[in-house]
Amino acid sequence: MAAMRDAHSSLAEEDCRDLRFLVFGGKTGWLGQSLVKIIADQAPACKVIVAQSRMEDRAQVKKELAETKPTHVLCAAGVTGRPNVDWCEDHRKETVRANVLGTLTLCDVCDEVGIHLTIYATGCIYSYDAEHPLGGARGFTEEDAPNFHGSYYSKTKGMVEELVQPFLNNTLLLRVRMPLSEDMSAPRNFIYKIARYERVVDIPNSMTSLPDMLPVSVLMAVRGLTGVFNFTNPGVISHNQCLELYRRYVDPRFTWRNFTEAEQARVLKAPRSNNMLDTSKLEAMLPDVAIPDILTATENLFSLSSDRPHDGTSASATSIPMTHEQITEVKFKEICFACKYINTRSIRENPEFVILMKLYTRKAEAIGQPALFRAPRSISRCKT
Ligand SMILES: NC(=O)c1ccc[n+]([C@@H]2O[C@H](COP(=O)([O-])OP(=O)(O)OC[C@H]3O[C@@H](n4cnc5c(N)ncnc54)[C@H](OP(=O)(O)O)[C@@H]3O)[C@@H](O)[C@H]2O)c1
Repeated sequence: MAAMRDAHSSLAEEDCRDLRFLVFGGKTGWLGQSLVKIIADQAPACKVIVAQSRMEDRAQVKKELAETKPTHVLCAAGVTGRPNVDWCEDHRKETVRANVLGTLTLCDVCDEVGIHLTIYATGCIYSYDAEHPLGGARGFTEEDAPNFHGSYYSKTKGMVEELVQPFLNNTLLLRVRMPLSEDMSAPRNFIYKIARYERVVDIPNSMTSLPDMLPVSVLMAVRGLTGVFNFTNPGVISHNQCLELYRRYVDPRFTWRNFTEAEQARVLKAPRSNNMLDTSKLEAMLPDVAIPDILTATENLFSLSSDRPHDGTSASATSIPMTHEQITEVKFKEICFACKYINTRSIRENPEFVILMKLYTRKAEAIGQPALFRAPRSISRCKT
C-alpha cells in the first residue's frame, strides 16, 4: 500500500509531467495567485499559464484554450465583493455576469473541447438547521440542497451548482469555505479579517486551510476527479478559537468582543452563512492523503507564519511589543513546525527561513537538543 502523503505537499509527490494548467483568477486573485505559486513550487515539471480572457466572453475563452492548449483549467475567478460580499447586493448584474454567466460559459466550453475543469466554488450555501444543528455531529453533504439564500452572492452560487450538474462528467466543483492562510497580513485571510472587526460572532464553522487544500485540489484535477466535493478541512473551528490562537501566537495582549448573530445582522447588509460541511466524500476519495482537522490545520498556520503583524495594526488597542526572549521562543517553535514543511521549495528558499534555520540549529546545539533537520550548506554559510 502507498504511504500516506501530507496534504500540504501532496502535489509534489504526484507525477505531473507534460501537464499544462490554465488558471482563471491567476493574475490578480487571492486563490488564483496562490494556485499558480503552488503549481510552480510543487510541480515544476508542469506548465502553468495565467488566463487573460473574461470568462463570460465565449469567443475569447475558446481562442485562449486553442492557443494555450491546457490539459487542465482551474477556475478561481469570480466576484466576491470588496470589502465583502455585501457589495454583491448592490452589484447584481456584475455578480451574475462573472459568477453565473462566466462560470457556466467556461464550464460549457471546457466540456465542448474535453478539457478537465476545476471550479473553486463556495460552501456558503448552507446554514445550520433542525436536521443539521449547530454543535451536532451531522454536517451538510454534497447531496443536500442549498438552504441558505440570504445573500445575493450565496443565492447565485447555489443556482450555479444546480446548473453545473449536466457538466459534472468533466467538471470538479470544490466548495471552499472561509479560507485561511499562513499569511496573517493578507486582508482576504479570514483570521486577518476577524482580528480587525470591532466585534465578532462566535460560531463553529467548516473552514479551508489553503496551504493544505490548494495542493490537494490540483492533485484531484491531475487524477481527473469530477463531481461536487465539500472542500474544507474536517471538523469545525469557531471565531473565538481562531482568535485565541491569534492571541497565543501573534499578540499576547490581543482582546476582542463578541456579539450575537442578531446584533451582527444590524451592521450587515446581507446575512452570513454558518455551517458544518461533511467531508467524508473527500476523505474517502483521497485515502492516501492525510488532511489535518481544522483545529490542527489552523494551529499549523500560526506556527508556520513568518509574517506576524507585530506592527500595531491588530485590533487590540493595548498591544505591547514582545520581549526578545518571547520572540526567540516563538521563532524556535516556528522552525520546529517549518521542519515538517521542508519539502516545500518556497519555504526552503525563503531568506527568512534560512536565517531562522541557522538560529534554530545554534539554539538546538546550545540546549543539547538533536536537530530536527540537518542544515544544508547554504544555511551553514549564511550570516545572521
Ligand atoms: N475568498 C473567500 O473568502 C472565498 C470563500 C469561498 C469561496 N471563494 C471562491 O473562490 C473564488 C476565488 O476567490 P478569491 O478570494 O481568490 O477572489 P478574488 O481575490 O476576488 O479574485 C477573483 C479573481 O477573479 C477574477 N475575475 C473576476 N471576474 C472575472 C471574469 N468575469 N472573468 C475572468 N476573471 C474574473 C479577478 O480578476 P480581475 O481582477 O481581472 O477582475 C480576480 O483575479 C471565487 O469564485 C470565490 O467565490 C472565495
